[in-house]
Amino acid sequence: MSLVTEPDPHRHKPCIGLTGGIGCGKSTVARMFAELGAGVVDTDAIAHRLTQADGAAIPAIRDAFGDGYITTDGALDRKQMRDLIFSDARAKLRLEQLLHPLILEQSRVQLRQLQGAPYIIIVVPLLPESPAFRKLVQRILAVDCEPDSQVARVMRRSSLGETEVRNIIARQTPRAERLSLADDIIHNDASLADLAGQVTALHQRYARMQTTIDGG
Ligand SMILES: Nc1ncnc2c1ncn2[C@@H]1O[C@H](COP(=O)(O)OP(=O)(O)OP(=O)(O)O)[C@@H](O)[C@H]1O
Ligand SMILES: [Mg+2]
Repeated sequence: MSLVTEPDPHRHKPCIGLTGGIGCGKSTVARMFAELGAGVVDTDAIAHRLTQADGAAIPAIRDAFGDGYITTDGALDRKQMRDLIFSDARAKLRLEQLLHPLILEQSRVQLRQLQGAPYIIIVVPLLPESPAFRKLVQRILAVDCEPDSQVARVMRRSSLGETEVRNIIARQTPRAERLSLADDIIHNDASLADLAGQVTALHQRYARMQTTIDGG
C-alpha cells in the first residue's frame, strides 16, 4: 500500500470521458486527439492487457469461471467467454464486476502518468453504465453516428454479419440515452476530414479548460 496521498483532484488535468456505440469511431477520434497532443487512456486496451496471458485479472477469472475459460498459455479464452456472456446476463455482470475495479485502478495509474498533457481523453465504451468512471471524468464526449454506419463499418472491419452487429447494438445503452448524458457530441456520419475538423474544434476548447480548472 502506498502512503503517498492522492493529489488534489482539482489540480488534475481535465479528464474527458469518450464514449459511443460499437463502431461509432471512438478509437479513430482518440487517435486524432492524441495527434493533437492530448493524453489518451484506452480502457479497451487496459482490459485486453488485464486478460492476456498472466494478466492481473486472470486469477480472479479462473476462480469465478473455472479453468475452462483460460487458455493453455494462461490468457482469457475470449471466444469461450464471448459465447458464455452472450447468452448469460449474470455471467456478463460477474465478469464486469471483476474487471471494472481493475480497469479503474489501471486508468488512475495512467492518468497520473499523463499529467504533462494539457488534458486527457479516456475512452470508456461502457461509460453510461459505469458510475465510477462517470465520477472520474469532468465531461462526457459521445461519438455518434447512424446505426447503418455502425453496421457498415463494423462489418468492413470484422467477420461479423449484419444481424450480429445489430444484436450487439441492441444490447448496448440506447443511443438517445447516451446522447442525453453527453456534454459534447461528435457526429461521425461524414468523412474522416470532417471528423478531424470536429476533433480539432473540441481540442481547442479542452486545451483551454485546463487554465480554468487550474485557476491559472
Ligand atoms: N468518418 C469515417 N469515415 C470512414 N470510416 C470511418 C469513419 N469513422 C470511422 N471509420 C472506420 O470505421 C471503423 C470503426 O471505427 P473505430 O474503430 O474508430 O470505432 P470504435 O467506436 O472504436 O469501434 P469499437 O466499438 O469496435 O471499438 C474503423 O475501421 C474506422 O477506420
Ligand atoms: Mg475502438
